Amino acid sequence: MARDDWHPDRLADLEGRRYLVTGSTAGLGFFASLQLAEARGHVIMTGRNPNRLASARAAVRRLVPDASVETLLLDTSNLGSVRAAAATVRGRAGLHGLLLNAGIVHPPKHRETTPDGHEVVFATNALGHYALAGELLLPLAAGRGRMVWVGSMSTSMWPYDPLDPELENGYTPWRAYVQSKVATAALGLEADRRLRAAGVPIASLVAHPGFSIGGRTRGIVGINEPSLAKRFTDNLQAPITQSKERGAWSLVRALVDPDAQGGDFWGPSRIVHGAPRLATPSKITRDPEIAARLWHYCEHATGLPWPYLKASRARRRR
Ligand SMILES: NC(=O)c1ccc[n+]([C@@H]2O[C@H](COP(=O)([O-])OP(=O)(O)OC[C@H]3O[C@@H](n4cnc5c(N)ncnc54)[C@H](OP(=O)(O)O)[C@@H]3O)[C@@H](O)[C@H]2O)c1
Repeated sequence: MARDDWHPDRLADLEGRRYLVTGSTAGLGFFASLQLAEARGHVIMTGRNPNRLASARAAVRRLVPDASVETLLLDTSNLGSVRAAAATVRGRAGLHGLLLNAGIVHPPKHRETTPDGHEVVFATNALGHYALAGELLLPLAAGRGRMVWVGSMSTSMWPYDPLDPELENGYTPWRAYVQSKVATAALGLEADRRLRAAGVPIASLVAHPGFSIGGRTRGIVGINEPSLAKRFTDNLQAPITQSKERGAWSLVRALVDPDAQGGDFWGPSRIVHGAPRLATPSKITRDPEIAARLWHYCEHATGLPWPYLKASRARRRR
């Protein structure tokens, strides 16, 4: 498929392939789940709220009646929930793709912490995904799979503080978002270096959706029902935005395109919108020292070092 022609309607048949998507109850995660299901992949749709999860599965089934989808409760801000969900997935067949999408995009006004004691935006967007990906290393190695971390343009718009990833000092909602997204992208690139070095057959990639907003996205009952006022204001931003459906394209391309490789960064051709292209991650997220420091921080904060050795042995036994 020529790069300019990329479209999820023309994906290869994904029958027999299994994908897990975090945050699939709304936005990019919902549309990524839908696009994978349309290509006949099996999708494990995950979310923190059982009612929203049921609505999301019902919406996929309305649009794709023969979709192969299941749901699984998974709150990425809660390490116990991450462990429990991962244990369920490990008890089943191998996994071909993991889309680490869930995120708080409108952080709380004042710093909040999770029951595990972590700043909630960092915990939800970055730390929970570090833990989940590590816990799913074996099924991903068995499926020779990929993991895709969801980054953001915001990482080049604001300074990052490597000494205070959870913003114990100087919290603002915007800083919390940027800190979490720098961490997410840096961890995604670092994961690929570590997996390669350990000989684990899993690729780690980063993708971003440009600027994707609900008021420019088709209405779907229970998933995206913007008010007329939101439609109006979001459409005023048309030149610099796209729909969440389109935004999901970069994520899905990174997850399934045979041309995509570990260490890649995928995003819209015109940065804020457009068809997915290979792009260059922001400088801070490419910094190996920042990434190594974050990795060490996550290992310590979760108490979950990644099981590289077991994952590389899983490959040798196949
Ligand atoms: N939209 C953009 O322009 C843009 C740009 C750059 C990066 N991103 C990234 O793309 C990802 C998705 O953004 P979006 O625009 O689709 O946002 P969204 O419409 O607000 O959807 C966020 C999704 O994440 C879920 N979520 C939030 N906290 C969670 C938790 N603790 N556990 C599990 N799921 C949780 C939400 O579930 P609930 O239904 O339970 O709330 C929802 O399904 C985020 O990581 C965001 O940082 C988005």
